Amino acid sequence: MSTKIAIFASGSGSNAENIIQHFAQNKAVEIALILSNKPDAFVLERAKKWQIPSVCFTKSDFTETNNISTILAENNIDFIVLAGFLLKIPATLIQQYPHRIVNIHPALLPKYGGKGMYGQHVHEAVVANKEKESGITIHYVNEQYDEGNIIFQAKCSILSSDTPALVAEKVHQLEYTHFPTIIEKLITD
Ligand code: GAR
Repeated sequence: MSTKIAIFASGSGSNAENIIQHFAQNKAVEIALILSNKPDAFVLERAKKWQIPSVCFTKSDFTETNNISTILAENNIDFIVLAGFLLKIPATLIQQYPHRIVNIHPALLPKYGGKGMYGQHVHEAVVANKEKESGITIHYVNEQYDEGNIIFQAKCSILSSDTPALVAEKVHQLEYTHFPTIIEKLITD
């Protein structure tokens, strides 16, 4: 039996697609479902392209009903990956998937984490503070934004001339290199 992964994403989904690609030839792992809270998120196009079923839901669906929990259970999902997903995960879902929900954050937590710190906002803050390095953090999800146990971090250096867009590019490269292999390690262990 294969391990079934669900990926939650709110935006472009380039990480989601990179993970899909990574596991495409791996019979032991199936990216079984893509979920998004944004009807116009490009990740939904990527799901179509790879013929992966997708689900779009509203914030209140997610926080006030058990609909998403039910969908995950019905699809026999074993493991959840957050790849640019911007809503807080409800406690019931964390209890349903203990130590089986991971998130990627585009900075070196605990710096530049918490509510409002996502995507471009993170890179802008890093550049404004003249940081010499940034990076990625892969961590388990708990009930606080960006505070679950850290699984893995990788760093990149930042030049004083780097723009937030350039930092974003460096961070994305780290994400593409490490996220799929860390997921593979976690579900294999
Ligand atoms: C990624 O850089 C991810 O780390 C970040 O959003 C981007 C999504 O890009 N996540 C967060 O900021 C979560 N707090 P993508 O849609 O192209 O994968």
